[in-house]
Amino acid sequence: MKDQYIMGIETSCDETAVAIVKNGREIVSNIVASQIDSHKRFGGVVPEIASRHHVEAITLVLEEALQEAGLAYSDIDGIAVTEGPGLVGALLIGVNAAKAVAFAHDIPLLGVHHIAGHIYANRLITEMKFPLIALVVSGGHTELVYMKEHGSFEVLGETRDDAAGEAYDKVARTLNLPYPGGPHIDRLAHEGEPTIAFPRAWLEEDSYDFSFSGLKSSVINTLHNAEQRGEKLSPQEIAASFQSSVIDVLVTKTVKATEQYGVKQVLLAGGVAANKGLRTALQEAYSQMEDVELVIPPLSLCTDNAAMIAAVGSVMFEKGKRSAYDLNANPGLDIENE
Ligand code: KG4
Ligand code: ZN
Repeated sequence: MKDQYIMGIETSCDETAVAIVKNGREIVSNIVASQIDSHKRFGGVVPEIASRHHVEAITLVLEEALQEAGLAYSDIDGIAVTEGPGLVGALLIGVNAAKAVAFAHDIPLLGVHHIAGHIYANRLITEMKFPLIALVVSGGHTELVYMKEHGSFEVLGETRDDAAGEAYDKVARTLNLPYPGGPHIDRLAHEGEPTIAFPRAWLEEDSYDFSFSGLKSSVINTLHNAEQRGEKLSPQEIAASFQSSVIDVLVTKTVKATEQYGVKQVLLAGGVAANKGLRTALQEAYSQMEDVELVIPPLSLCTDNAAMIAAVGSVMFEKGKRSAYDLNANPGLDIENE
């Protein structure tokens, strides 16, 4: 059978990324141009700056992805692109680049949901086994997603306020750590003990929803109160205590959903999946469960990339799904109606 090559394009936030994936599972090229350095001095992503960088980078990144793969557009079977959610001005650059390339070379166009992409990053590691649940933890999202088959997404629970990554970034900012703060908190957490009992939002008994704004406020208040008393709290202890609260809730709810839904696989996804504490806690929790496979992607596939978008595109392509040329950026795209 002829090999299938899908090109993925991702520009939903602050990475301009293009990748080519062979037969849905094998990465042949994966280019990520990060803009983090341009946003660092503002302490977060500035949408207007993000769009400008995407415009500058996209053509070069497209060329580089083809070059690294040793392929031409005539070899590509489908162009998959993140249509949402994300920053609208940033998404538009990827969507328009994808449409231009698809039209010029007469290649099918495939609009992809960014979170579906994060989940499918796992398919670049191992085959997916259904039913499964995915714990998606990124800068913009915290969700537990149930999948009974390819392309079917049921959101069991999601954050009611801040995403896990957002809470990490805000707490990091209060501790005067650089953006993005997640990796810095993670590092500090391993140098201290969780001595402070920060709150854990369990919500209602049977809820798979999350809430991190109470925790975030509690950390910030603790720091401010100490400051007013002229005391200096140890950043290591703050980081360790904050991280232990986040991980406790994430792991407990994921394990509960695993048991309730009798899934074969649990996938970890999103930028916060790079967190060492979370990875270790999940590995410990699942080491006892013999009939459930825990899959944790390597760090490079946890943060935004286009290989994960191509991986979703591959499944859509096989299912005969196609997007029309009126495909538009959709910042509020719903994963359940994918
Ligand atoms: O998935 P992602 O690359 O972008 C979004 O789609 O949001 O996630 C970025 C988020 C940031 O909030 C960053 O602080 C967080 O992932 N992050 C981490 C770690 N590495 C990245 N959070 C905690 N621990 C880490 N090691
Ligand atoms: Zn993401």
